[in-house]
Amino acid sequence: MPSLSNPDELIFFVNGRKVIELNADPEVNLLFYLRKVLHLSGTKYACGGGGCGACTVMVSRYNPKTKKIHHYPATACLVPICSLHGAAVTTVEGVGSIKTRIHPVQERLAKCHGTQCGFCSPGMVMSIYTLLRNHPEPTPDQITEALGGNLCRCTGYRPIIESGKTFCVESTLCQRKGSGKCCMDQDERSFVNKPEKICTKLYNEDEFRPFDPSQEPIFPPELIRMAEDPNKRRLTFQGERTSWIMPVTLEDVLELKASFPKAPLIMGNTAVGPSIKFKDVFYPVFISPLGLPELYFVDTIDDGVTIGAGYSLAQLNDALLFTVLEQPKEKTKTYHALLKHLRTLAGAQIRNMSTVGGHVVSRPSFSDLNPILAAGNATINLRSKEGERQIPLNSHFLERSPEADLKSEEIVLSVYIPYSTQWDFVSGLRLAQRQENASAIVNAGMSVKFEDGTNTIKDLKMFYGGVGPTVVSASQTCKQLIGRHWDDQMLSDACRLVLDEIYIPPEAKGGMVEYRRTLIISLLFKFYLKVRQELNKIDPQKFPDIPEKFMSALEDFPIETPQGLQMFECVDPRQPPQDPVGHPIMHQSAIKHATGEAVFCDDMPPIANELFLAVVTSTRAHAKIMSIETSEALALPGVVDIITADDVPGDNNYHGEVFYAQNKVICVGQIVCTVAADTYAHAKAAAKKVKITYEDIEPKIITIEQALQHNSFLSVERKIEQGNVEQAFRHVDQIIEGEVHVEGQEHFYMETQTILAIPKQEDKEMVLHLGTQFPTHVQEFVAAALNIPRNRVTCCMKRAGGAFGGKVTKPGLLGAISAVAANKTGRPIRFILERGDDMLITAGRHPLLGKYKIGFMNNGVIKAADVEYYVNGGCTPDESEMVVEFIVLKSENAYYIPHFRCRGRACKTNLPSNTAFRGFGFPQATVVVEAYVTAVASQCNLLPEEVKEINMYKRTTKTAHKQTFNPEPLRRCWKECLEKSAFYARKQAAEEFNKENYWKKRGLAVVPMKFTIGVPVTYYNQAAALVHIYLDGSVLVTHGGCELGQGLYTKMSQVASRELNIPQSYIHLSETSTITVPNASFTAGSMATDINGKAVQNACQILMARLQPVIRKNPKGKWEDWIAKAFEESISLSATGYFKGYKTNMDWEKKEGEAFPYFVYGAVCSEVEVDCLTGAHKAQLRRTDIFMDAAFSINPALDIGQIEGAFIQGMGLYTTEELKYSPEGVLYSRGPDDYKIPTATEIPEEFYVTLVRSRNPIAIYSSKGLGEAGMFMGCSVLLAINDAVTAARKERGLTKTFTLSSPVTPEFIRMTCVDQFTDMIPRDDPSTFTPWSIHVS
Ligand SMILES: Cc1cc2nc3c(=O)[nH]c(=O)nc-3n(C[C@H](O)[C@H](O)[C@H](O)COP(=O)(O)OP(=O)(O)OC[C@H]3O[C@@H](n4cnc5c(N)ncnc54)[C@H](O)[C@@H]3O)c2cc1C
Ligand code: FES
Ligand code: FES
Repeated sequence: MPSLSNPDELIFFVNGRKVIELNADPEVNLLFYLRKVLHLSGTKYACGGGGCGACTVMVSRYNPKTKKIHHYPATACLVPICSLHGAAVTTVEGVGSIKTRIHPVQERLAKCHGTQCGFCSPGMVMSIYTLLRNHPEPTPDQITEALGGNLCRCTGYRPIIESGKTFCVESTLCQRKGSGKCCMDQDERSFVNKPEKICTKLYNEDEFRPFDPSQEPIFPPELIRMAEDPNKRRLTFQGERTSWIMPVTLEDVLELKASFPKAPLIMGNTAVGPSIKFKDVFYPVFISPLGLPELYFVDTIDDGVTIGAGYSLAQLNDALLFTVLEQPKEKTKTYHALLKHLRTLAGAQIRNMSTVGGHVVSRPSFSDLNPILAAGNATINLRSKEGERQIPLNSHFLERSPEADLKSEEIVLSVYIPYSTQWDFVSGLRLAQRQENASAIVNAGMSVKFEDGTNTIKDLKMFYGGVGPTVVSASQTCKQLIGRHWDDQMLSDACRLVLDEIYIPPEAKGGMVEYRRTLIISLLFKFYLKVRQELNKIDPQKFPDIPEKFMSALEDFPIETPQGLQMFECVDPRQPPQDPVGHPIMHQSAIKHATGEAVFCDDMPPIANELFLAVVTSTRAHAKIMSIETSEALALPGVVDIITADDVPGDNNYHGEVFYAQNKVICVGQIVCTVAADTYAHAKAAAKKVKITYEDIEPKIITIEQALQHNSFLSVERKIEQGNVEQAFRHVDQIIEGEVHVEGQEHFYMETQTILAIPKQEDKEMVLHLGTQFPTHVQEFVAAALNIPRNRVTCCMKRAGGAFGGKVTKPGLLGAISAVAANKTGRPIRFILERGDDMLITAGRHPLLGKYKIGFMNNGVIKAADVEYYVNGGCTPDESEMVVEFIVLKSENAYYIPHFRCRGRACKTNLPSNTAFRGFGFPQATVVVEAYVTAVASQCNLLPEEVKEINMYKRTTKTAHKQTFNPEPLRRCWKECLEKSAFYARKQAAEEFNKENYWKKRGLAVVPMKFTIGVPVTYYNQAAALVHIYLDGSVLVTHGGCELGQGLYTKMSQVASRELNIPQSYIHLSETSTITVPNASFTAGSMATDINGKAVQNACQILMARLQPVIRKNPKGKWEDWIAKAFEESISLSATGYFKGYKTNMDWEKKEGEAFPYFVYGAVCSEVEVDCLTGAHKAQLRRTDIFMDAAFSINPALDIGQIEGAFIQGMGLYTTEELKYSPEGVLYSRGPDDYKIPTATEIPEEFYVTLVRSRNPIAIYSSKGLGEAGMFMGCSVLLAINDAVTAARKERGLTKTFTLSSPVTPEFIRMTCVDQFTDMIPRDDPSTFTPWSIHVS
């Protein structure tokens, strides 16, 4: 270890202010430092591993050699503070603030409605801001690229990209597919029947402040002086457990490397950082040669380019780009291949942080660059005290054989990438779950060299990533093919040989074994075609081209900047200008979101004496707890206490929900105990030292199938039935039966569950601040756990960083956990779940199994359906029973089936308890419905859309549970959708395309929707509000609803403004609390605006009635005058408003009831293109048209935001989001690295949303609740993919209907598009091995 005696000062700047840290700890990252030391809480934590972009900041460094300042985006969670010596950091607070001046980036993000919950917004601002610092007039593609590393779970990205596009010089209006025409042109698009009433502008660009790049803060001159200081010396920083050494000369680096051979050379820290955080790797010493001039250079020589190891991957990209522009194409084939992969490798932040040297040396098994570098014959230049040497970046190096590796005292100086020649061909190929910011499932770098003028193989190289623990080479295969001609026979032999050589065992980590095997040869086939095409270009006579039908196999899906249009009804011109109802008003916190000034729970400043909580969770699915050993943990520094079930003063098992596991555990991830300590780091370190011993209990039930075998259920069966199903089956032309599996979904709200529990000194009072959808429930659970009356528990909820159902019941459980800890220790508890813990503990959407039997006529009329649904509820009741009820009631969707029986039941398993999630069962169940409708169509030789139309509800009638409704808006949405999306013409065009393209297929689907809001229990629909008018005329509105990003507070302010007839600026909403409104219902089920709006309206109307006498006496008076007068006349200026609730009921005995207050209708059309060879589809979601019956929209911007956001979230559910469980019930997917929600590149290239007018007198201002409805619409993408895959299968002679399931991942697509390659791979007998992961539906 280096000397501890005199650590150096760490100097860097944050937002123009100098930071001198005397005790810089190498284990402290910038995110922690900003939030907890500098109290700059604008930068957010959402994953801690570089994968979400919530913590994006701009780092700026001065290069004394070039005398230039380099600005780049970085994820603060992966930046060790020690790496910042001499750097300037800009956070969202430094960009602009409400207190000083908001920056145009912040203003436009807010005004374009690019924020909902606002948790991702500071990161989005920083990504766009940094781009503008480097490119003040960016192109739309640069905007999309800059946002690739930032996740947003709310908005669906369209408005965020749009806000960025306002900085582009190119027209921000769409230039539809280069036609020069714009979709804003209503005549051209003829979307609208009455153009004068339809609006398309959700914001006014004229309000935007101009952007003046010259006004940005200057780089601190002191840092320039520091960088240019000729007397720089080695610096050392010393932390609690580790040292950080910053050498300033190459000799010093080599000296240190020799002295500390095991110390990592920290460059980008994007490989080392995650290994420390997630894999518990420990390094006592770090060597950081950042800025060492010898590592930063590009050297172009006659036969190639040498790139310094310190160059970031973004700088590598720029250097390669420069070279390909300078050099002829034939010399730069390796460079082109690298550039292609660099575009989608991680996000912009990671590309800017990670370095060439770090990438090459860390050798991730999924590396996108190493296979290409190896195929392109790159070499690594090494340096040690002994001198320089070169090693080839070849298979031995990549497979880490010791003799080909660098020695521990060596460092990489640079990487040399040679030019290619005319007869060399190099390609990079990859397939990931998502096109951008997702590591490859399988990738490859391949090169072939031919004897000059021939297609005879002289040299062949094939490197694969994602097929084993390292990148592997198919060297034996390559050797055997030397001398062969590049023809079909060679390809066939190559496929056989490579499958023999690269074997992925059936139980391999990562799963998807057969898919990965198929990709090995599918990618090889792509390379084969590409080379043939290139040969043909050189000499068309000698080398025949590939068949025309195969051409599209070679084209990767482009990343396009999305465009589209949002249409809604204009406000009636007769409406008073001050009345904001119906206008696209910006979210009331939008500017605060964008400046980072919106306070989320963990942004609240530290409270004296507070403790941090870390959880210890069960590692067994079903087991007896034999012992909990805590002594080692308790002995660690900072640890104050360990809390177990024994410390719960009240109920530890409340309504079937267990707070702390007692005696036994019932799932992996159940909280067994918590550790309270002075810092989170201490609590976490101690939690790892708690030793629990278990004894397994049988049975262990993980899947629905296992639950059915064991008769394991959480609730009774729910059933509705109409007609005579058995009899109807006897009179139909055909009967089909099938099963559909729909896997679950993680909420992935950007703000993980966070709770601040503060015990009061008197009367056992407990105050909790948290992000929840149901403060009443938290209050109830905490009171039960502490055995105190509910009037001692206060729950305060200002805002949540997304919720989507995941914060309805789980905060109750976590609230009880933290309140018990606060009660025991007598100190405030800050409990922030890390992303991995959050995903593990809180579970998500219910996986579903649907079984159907359908009787229908040959003309497509469905006469009878008998459907059974089972959901995987997990280990406790939670809301599973209600989810099943919703499924049974709603799953008929838009179709009338005269003889209909539907049953549902929640299975009890040993998985974490699943819970509410947007749509509440409907999005899963209706996949089953769409699957059987599609299957009927296939049997009748009709289009699915034709069968849908035939069976759709047509006139006022009753649902299967006998609720009367009028489906007129449904028919209207359907008709408009078919017409305006030009479905039939595009369907024909897709068929033409499919005929001409063998390996790419297009598919379209139109899906109707009949959805309901609310719940079938009247008292759940009640709401209250409390409105105070103060003597200055300002108004404080509180109600029982929670602000989750959906804009509830904004809408409530619009309601109050209309009712009180005052400008919105007079009205304030502060927070939701159990003190102001008791016993409030949950904010879920799309009904928050409906019920709280009515309550606010009621309170305002009461107040206005009281004010009437005053107003009548002084009709021309001002609001302030009336209020003053009212006070003088002792008129109460505070009122409680109340809404009793919609009258809803459901009689399960009779199987009928008016279950829901009203219906929301819609229709959606999506078109996709899939790559049959790889299964890729996302980037080519070509177009989506949504028609949503909004009745009258109180705020079209918020409603469209909900629809778009839900649609994209739904698209994720049905396509990329895949939870992986081990057969033992362990959830593997615990972060953005292995769970892929959509990114900005996934959204439709063309995205049109239309709010369709209807009437809904029952709801406030005749509006409709639209929070959830869009979720199911994502299903159109699944069905369009199904359509494309069906086309591929038909062409291959496979006419049998295949089983549709969800999600339709690239794996599903590829393995369903059966062909010669899928036939070729080895298959394993499932009884001979235990797979790495299983499906639980
Ligand atoms: C969120 C995320 C997404 C990612 N996505 C992808 C992806 O899609 N595709 C992909 O290919 N990769 C991906 N990666 C991996 C990424 O490319 C590597 O982590 C990165 O290239 C490592 O570079 P670094 O500079 O950060 O290395 P560091 O973490 O700083 O160092 C890594 C290792 O290299 C050694 N080292 C560094 N420089 C030298 C040198 N000059 N000489 C000797 N040893 C050295 C260090 O000692 C250390 O052992 C992703 C990473 C993250 C965090
Ligand atoms: S918190 Fe840093 S990238 Fe997610
Ligand atoms: S607004 Fe983007 S995550 Fe909520």
